[in-house]
Amino acid sequence: MGIMNTSTTQPGAYEIRVEGHLDERWGDWVDGVEIRHDADGTSTLTAQLADQPALHGVLGRMRDLGIPVVSVCRIDENGDASALMRAAAQYRYGDPMEVIEVRNIERPTVGADEVLVRVHAAGVDAGVWHLVSGQPYLLRTMGFGFRRPKNPVAGMDVAGTVEAVGSAVTRFRPGDEVFGCADGSFAEYATAKEAKLALKPANLTFEQAAAVPNSAAAALMALREVGRVQAGDRVLVIGASGGVGTYAVQIAKALGAHVTGVASTAKLDLVRAVGADEVIDYTREEIDARTGAYDLVLDIGGNRSLSQLRRALTADGRLVIVGGEGGGKWFGGINRQLRATILSRFVSQDLRFFFSQVDVDDLEALTELIEAGAVTPAIDRAFTLDEAAEAVRYQHAGQARGKVVITL
Ligand SMILES: NC(=O)c1ccc[n+]([C@@H]2O[C@H](COP(=O)([O-])OP(=O)(O)OC[C@H]3O[C@@H](n4cnc5c(N)ncnc54)[C@H](OP(=O)(O)O)[C@@H]3O)[C@@H](O)[C@H]2O)c1
Repeated sequence: MGIMNTSTTQPGAYEIRVEGHLDERWGDWVDGVEIRHDADGTSTLTAQLADQPALHGVLGRMRDLGIPVVSVCRIDENGDASALMRAAAQYRYGDPMEVIEVRNIERPTVGADEVLVRVHAAGVDAGVWHLVSGQPYLLRTMGFGFRRPKNPVAGMDVAGTVEAVGSAVTRFRPGDEVFGCADGSFAEYATAKEAKLALKPANLTFEQAAAVPNSAAAALMALREVGRVQAGDRVLVIGASGGVGTYAVQIAKALGAHVTGVASTAKLDLVRAVGADEVIDYTREEIDARTGAYDLVLDIGGNRSLSQLRRALTADGRLVIVGGEGGGKWFGGINRQLRATILSRFVSQDLRFFFSQVDVDDLEALTELIEAGAVTPAIDRAFTLDEAAEAVRYQHAGQARGKVVITL
């Protein structure tokens, strides 16, 4: 072991361990650098760096020189090393391919009611693209960060192993396998509120479990709480081949409904495979070709007009608007949802929209359906963490059959 350039490690310094020996040039490139060569053939570089961009500068130079990085730690004011983690991070809103970059950032620490999850898989749903792009702009006023994302790590759906728990957490302990909704799941570690996690369904892999939380909870809420589905109801699911739709078809069937799924030609086989009794290829037939045919319509894709959606409903049928892309940069089509709520007061049909929230009751209800074999995630494709930007782009492009996930 040899010291090449001496200076004491300052509080807040970074420690980067690499394979091989680092030469004297690092003394010229990084102020106050200290390098230790270890007997196992690795070297540890310690330096006081101004901020994260300075750290990324050093790591970028190592990457350019082909030096393999083994670990990166930050030394806090007590002189303790706090590990960094790899994460798909973004420091501005925009096109996922331009703003998401995999970097080493500080591992989050848990608050009293939080759980630190070692992430094995993360789900990618339509909401992720909105939070990455900052569109519609309306959502920036809803607490996600006005000029840039408040949380630089994208992703919500998570499945993994509990690493640590906060002092007030009672339902989990390290080693538990969990799934749910986290604050930034496109990373090696993520924190989640205890109330937004449940034990992973026993019959699912981490990859499958990460595909469940937001999409399946939205489908459950749309059908059960908002749509008040009853056994025997005739239910039309528009967007049945997507992330929410593939769950909606399965859950509606499990609740005893007769389900018709609407999708494009190439995805009709998937909609049948997840259990739809009938399918409509919307490129050949419109949803209101059978006027007054449905007790409940879930509108998940396509942004059809309220009058067209209402024509498909019985005289006292229920419309639940879940979402739909292409509604505009500012309001994302919320005006259609608001018009539905107002119109609902003046017509015999019930027209509603909602914003879903994932909580432990939903996750446990979904686990019951999954463990009973009534619901199985339909996964189109898995990406690696390094491909996180591509995963978000791919999901948003609309080609996916069912869900997209990231595995770590
Ligand atoms: N309200 C809430 O709380 C809540 C919760 C979750 C999601 N959402 C919203 O719900 C929407 C769907 O989310 P997702 O994750 O299911 O997205 P997704 O996986 O991209 O699925 C959307 C589906 O819509 C279908 N589609 C596109 N154009 C269509 C058309 N003209 N007619 C019928 N279907 C059409 C696509 O299938 P084809 O290729 O077959 O057309 C696609 O499979 C998004 O807007 C999302 O933001 C809302």
